[in-house]
Amino acid sequence: MSHNTIELNKQRQPLDHLESLWLFGYGSLIYKADFPFIERRPAAIEGWQRRFWQGSHDHRGTPEAPGRVATLIEQPQARCAGMAYHVTPDVFEHLDHREKNGYLRVTTPMHFLDDRTPITTEGIVYIAGPDNDAYLGPASEYDIARHVAVSHGPSGPNSEYVLKLAEALQALDEHDAHVFEIAEHLRHLLSESA
Ligand code: SIN
Repeated sequence: MSHNTIELNKQRQPLDHLESLWLFGYGSLIYKADFPFIERRPAAIEGWQRRFWQGSHDHRGTPEAPGRVATLIEQPQARCAGMAYHVTPDVFEHLDHREKNGYLRVTTPMHFLDDRTPITTEGIVYIAGPDNDAYLGPASEYDIARHVAVSHGPSGPNSEYVLKLAEALQALDEHDAHVFEIAEHLRHLLSESA
């Protein structure tokens, strides 16, 4: 599959007939909301784990030297916490462009973390699967940190993506061992090279 998913997302999942819907963000969408939203609430989805296995050609790297950004990998016992945004469908014009490097929209059940009795709602999540051309796949947390430490793209240093995500998860009081371990290695690597 080509890594540019703009047209594919439009064809696969037209949204214009809807008045509003929920978007679930688990990566940069947690800490960088550069789109209008009606409301935002911490939320989680089940059966998916966050992994820095997707290459970034357009934000945190280049086609010649891709960075590493988050995607979701199916894992039956896993839970992934993030931020849900209540949005109008026109916002997906911008989001499809922002997430064009391999991410497809998928509809998933999600629940809000600030509800006393969790109610399941549907949310749309952007997932970059192993069949997209920009996919990089697994590596150890240390190797991912070493890769991230030297990557840069039009949106800034790759390290900023990881460290901001780790901070945002901490602020949500959510532990993600994969993200926190990469962030820890990265802090050491960056302080060594300073
Ligand atoms: C997301 O944040 O939900 C998708 C991946 C990204 O844009 O970092």
